[in-house]
Amino acid sequence: MKKVFVKSYGCQMNVYDAERMADVLSGEGFSETTAPEDADLVILNTCHIREKAAEKVYSELGRVREIKEDRARHGLETRVVVAGCVAQAEGAEITRRAPVVDVVVGPQNYHRLPDLLSRARKAKVVDTEFPVEAKFDHLPAASAARTRSRGVSAFLTVQEGCDKFCTFCVVPYTRGAEYSRPVARILDEARRLAEAGVRELTLIGQNVNAFHGEGPGGETWDLARLLEALVEVPGIVRLRYTTSHPRDMSDRLIAAHRDLPALMPFLHLPVQAGSDRILAAMNRKHTADEYRRLIDRIRAARPDIALSSDFIVGFPGETEQDFTETLKLVEAVGFASSFFFKYSPRPGTPAADSTDQVLEAVKADRLARLQAIVEDQRKSFNHGTVGRRLDVLLERPGRHPGQMAGKSPFLQAVQIESDAHGIGDLVSVRITRVGSNSLFGELEGPSPMDAAA
Ligand code: 5AD
Ligand code: SF4
Repeated sequence: MKKVFVKSYGCQMNVYDAERMADVLSGEGFSETTAPEDADLVILNTCHIREKAAEKVYSELGRVREIKEDRARHGLETRVVVAGCVAQAEGAEITRRAPVVDVVVGPQNYHRLPDLLSRARKAKVVDTEFPVEAKFDHLPAASAARTRSRGVSAFLTVQEGCDKFCTFCVVPYTRGAEYSRPVARILDEARRLAEAGVRELTLIGQNVNAFHGEGPGGETWDLARLLEALVEVPGIVRLRYTTSHPRDMSDRLIAAHRDLPALMPFLHLPVQAGSDRILAAMNRKHTADEYRRLIDRIRAARPDIALSSDFIVGFPGETEQDFTETLKLVEAVGFASSFFFKYSPRPGTPAADSTDQVLEAVKADRLARLQAIVEDQRKSFNHGTVGRRLDVLLERPGRHPGQMAGKSPFLQAVQIESDAHGIGDLVSVRITRVGSNSLFGELEGPSPMDAAA
């Protein structure tokens, strides 16, 4: 049997896409391997969001070339595909810079992989079109066994692309305009995942809360309505969604956090910055105060909700005063975790052309200061859960025999001692202490939520 090695960089959608590519290729007789030296086909599923992420592709391609040459000495052929957002953004430039590459394929064309690979027998192939056919309709479903092997928590793409055009971001260019999958397709995929043993679904999209999919009767469904339907899928005990934009947090979606017990009390809602001047320059279309008031409304609906955000430091023109506004916002809101990035100019985006770029050393200093504050908030959030009883979805064996590891509703990793429960069980746990990477707890028994599913 031929073997394929897929390496993904960047966001969760790339993780999901990598699985879909493996599914397409399993129909062509490929099995997956985790060792690139054994692979007849190597796929790098790339990320273009920041310069560092994009540059990684070329260093990785250097290693792939060595593997290819080594395999060739043993009479083995290795074919190389670059997929993902760097493929979309750079196209044929990749085959020029790295002749080892046979196929360059953008995120909208994964369903065409078998065809592209056979065409690449004759000459290098670059496919970065936005095809008229929806790729989702042409991507095969994984078998139950494959799905099960990927774990009890699964990603499900419901929306792709973005129409927001934040001035720092390449996503609207690499992933294209917003597209929402039809509701019936999403429900089918959710049922198939649940039947294979999946208990938790994370709905993913670049702008997932802007979801506006076609409902079964031709009407448009928003994300809240989709979540309301998904809680009815037998076997599903948990729902999450990511990534959201503050402007698209509708009243109904906020109410869903109050009304749907299966919707987990954790929300990733990127704010990026706390200065109104910078937010306007970023084209975020909201102020810091509007974000704070939105958080108040969400907390009124679901008081125990944990929040996380993305932050960019050193956006062009960001002064020390602007940065202080970000720190103030962080103090006011309180986050359970967050991601931090130094602004990275991306070709083709408006902010990249600004002449007011911030020095690298200043960016590094602000990054460290912001990180330190949110790290304190993360620790105190984690310590705040000690003594509490939390549901934990068991995902895998723990580090030591007799231990199991899973996630709390707030996405915290939790370890428990248990021989009685297996992967996929939702159990009730009393949190006893905080370790460096996870919480520890004592098993109290099955969660009542599990019986309800
Ligand atoms: N530079 C730094 N960070 C960026 N992000 C997006 N574009 C850039 C950029 N040019 C960050 C944003 C976004 C996250 C996915 O990546 O914070 O929310
Ligand atoms: Fe990028 Fe802004 Fe769209 Fe998010 S909302 S994907 S940051 S353009």
